[in-house]
Amino acid sequence: MWYICCMIGDEIVTWHKSYSVNIPLIDAQHKELINLTNKLYRSCMQGRDRSKNVFMEVFRGAVDYVGYHFSTEEKVMERVAYPGYNAHKKEHADFVKEVLKTADELSKGTNPNPLGFVNYLKDWVLTHIAVSDTLLGKHLIELRQQGKLQRITLRVKQVSDRFIID
Ligand SMILES: [Fe+2]
Repeated sequence: MWYICCMIGDEIVTWHKSYSVNIPLIDAQHKELINLTNKLYRSCMQGRDRSKNVFMEVFRGAVDYVGYHFSTEEKVMERVAYPGYNAHKKEHADFVKEVLKTADELSKGTNPNPLGFVNYLKDWVLTHIAVSDTLLGKHLIELRQQGKLQRITLRVKQVSDRFIID
């Protein structure tokens, strides 16, 4: 059942400057994750006939973007030999496992609660930014202040633009 959810605004989460980890590339990607979370939220509000297809299309885009974002952070961590790399990467991996489980349930119809997933995504992203990504940001800034980090060039698989642009 893909019912119309109770809607107060058209956003379930709004970017706030306190979410910044002071690394522009990572902040930009976090803003896009928040944007995609809101797109998923809005897709829950579509008419009942179309909602599942719309939600699943946005969901697939969000999964792609999450993969792209995690690859970016993991490449940065590898490049600077970040001490918290293993724990941070495991958080990403555990989240991906949960997302893939949800994808399977949603497509099989055994999970009738897409809004539950949107809430989970919002909470996970905000907590992960506030704790783990903030620690990574602090580490990168310390390295920069110590003159140990200049500029990092990354090669990360780019996802399709249609998933990035609203
Ligand atoms: Fe992260």
